[in-house]
Amino acid sequence: MCGIIGFIGRTDAAPILIEGLKRLEYRGYDSSGIATISSAGKIEIRKEIGKIVELEKIIKHNPINGKIGIAHTRWATHGGATVTNAHPHIGQTGKITIVHNGIIENYATLKKHLEKEGREFTTETDSEVIVHLIERYYFDTDNQDDGSPLTRLEKAVSDTVKMLEGTFGIAVLCDEVPDTIIGARKGSPLVIGIGKDSMFIASDINAFVTYTKQVIYLDDNEIVTINRDTYQTKNFERAPVSKDIEEISWDVDEIGRAGYDHFMLKEICEQPDSVRNAFIGRLLYEQATAKLGGLKLSNKDILNIDRILITACGTALHAGMVGKYIIEQLAGIPVEVDFASEFRYRNPIIRPNTLVLAISQSGETADTLAALREAKQKGATVMGICNVVGSTIARECDGGVYVHAGPEIGVASTKAFTSQVTVMILLAIYFGRVRGLSRDIANKLMKEIEKLPGAIHAILDSKEKIKKVAVKYAGTKHAFFMGRNDQYPVALEGALKLKEISYIDANGYPAAEMKHGPIALIDEEHLTVALAPDSPLLEKMIANIQEIRARNGKIVTVTDTKNQMIEKLSDDVIKIPKVHPALKPILMALPMQLFAYYVAVAMECDVDQPRNLAKSVTVE
Ligand code: F6R
Repeated sequence: MCGIIGFIGRTDAAPILIEGLKRLEYRGYDSSGIATISSAGKIEIRKEIGKIVELEKIIKHNPINGKIGIAHTRWATHGGATVTNAHPHIGQTGKITIVHNGIIENYATLKKHLEKEGREFTTETDSEVIVHLIERYYFDTDNQDDGSPLTRLEKAVSDTVKMLEGTFGIAVLCDEVPDTIIGARKGSPLVIGIGKDSMFIASDINAFVTYTKQVIYLDDNEIVTINRDTYQTKNFERAPVSKDIEEISWDVDEIGRAGYDHFMLKEICEQPDSVRNAFIGRLLYEQATAKLGGLKLSNKDILNIDRILITACGTALHAGMVGKYIIEQLAGIPVEVDFASEFRYRNPIIRPNTLVLAISQSGETADTLAALREAKQKGATVMGICNVVGSTIARECDGGVYVHAGPEIGVASTKAFTSQVTVMILLAIYFGRVRGLSRDIANKLMKEIEKLPGAIHAILDSKEKIKKVAVKYAGTKHAFFMGRNDQYPVALEGALKLKEISYIDANGYPAAEMKHGPIALIDEEHLTVALAPDSPLLEKMIANIQEIRARNGKIVTVTDTKNQMIEKLSDDVIKIPKVHPALKPILMALPMQLFAYYVAVAMECDVDQPRNLAKSVTVE
């Protein structure tokens, strides 16, 4: 999704803004642009479609100077990916420019009014209304006596944001206030970075983490005015709001590719550590339980839970689906899992003892955020399972658990999934223990959890073998992924990984569902990936594999057991180590990720920035 970076300091802004934009590339975008207030005191803008390198070429050809600027990566929603539609947008006086993340839902009405007043629009975007509104209020004669240009600009921004419906994170420059950037937020993240003799504003810490780790998170309905060495936060009514400065703990190294060809591969290979980080310090053998203090629930609260509702999107939803099996099994609490986007609009039944879990890597997904707000409004206790510390979802929940996977940059989520599932298992142990799970079962499972990093290492050590299998299927047109029980969500995740980075039409199914329709598609060209670990359902899985083989479909089976039938029926078999049954979804996810990765690389796809996708989906 769109990204924002703004900078004020003593050095030229353009190189810092370009570097920031590159750090935001992972979010997905199709055009970019930059605006500065030049040494001549004028707003200068450069924009281009395509990758940031294209913008760099434009700037090389036509340099842009100034020690203050804002920049943007755009992921097209309203209007095509064109230079005109790219941000920053400038008003008709040429004195004010803005960048915007989010969607202005009432833009058509606002645009009509503004056009009636004689304002001319040059883009197809919803965002352009923002700059026209700010300009209109800034130059409004009623606003002229209202103090300095800075006060007028602050008032104009505050009057504007109160007119906007939808979501926004904006950054504003005005050449009459050449040492100031104004930011405002509602529903789309903005964070301030306090540097040495410099200040940053961005939609995401990654954009400036090489310069400072001192940050201030803006909350919804807040405006910030930043200069080179000061900042002031206010609400939309312009009343001061005091904010804490927080120190982020990420290392700059953590967000580089560290010698890997792609972020996705780096993140797949980080899983021994990221999974360890999800459970380390949380296994309490004395009490035979998991420590998840951030949930802030008493034993009485846990005993009173009569239903858990998990809501999330995409990969995080699949992690929640795995969680359903283990929570129901260990804690005996009924669990429902729902797409966040559907949850919000279906009048979900929330009772006083319903616990809602919102799972999100980024903590900024608009649908998940809307679902949690809906649940809170209906009186539910809402817990967040997030990766990004300080993200909006993490902050808006009543409590929660950080998965501590570290920054995930590749658009296809990998390490966040295995960390989310690990936390689901810890949660099941914790709730289970309060509700009657035996010490023995809990302690045994916790000991097995500690073996996970080693088992993940073993799969990573065999990645060349998985690559050999994967490249055989590069170019496949259609693929099914099938699994039973808690392998079904892993099948969904395998299909999602493959389709999003290789554009192969891939779908996941519960294996038994195949004969209720999907099997009609099987022919000698069709690939099926069968998730068949050792389990009481293995024989049934083998029967499903046989049904595919009987129709001449190609089969890759992933298993942790030696089984002659599997060997005989499958074109290829990927072996993984044996672990405790409850942990198998975590291990089975690894071959899914590696398979998708190597297929996509063999097909020369842009693995880290697949077409049409965004890392952080901050619009509905
Ligand atoms: C798939 C993927 C997406 C996200 C989904 C939710 O690889 O990354 O499906 O899982 O957009 O994002 P978060 O977890 O940030 O809420």
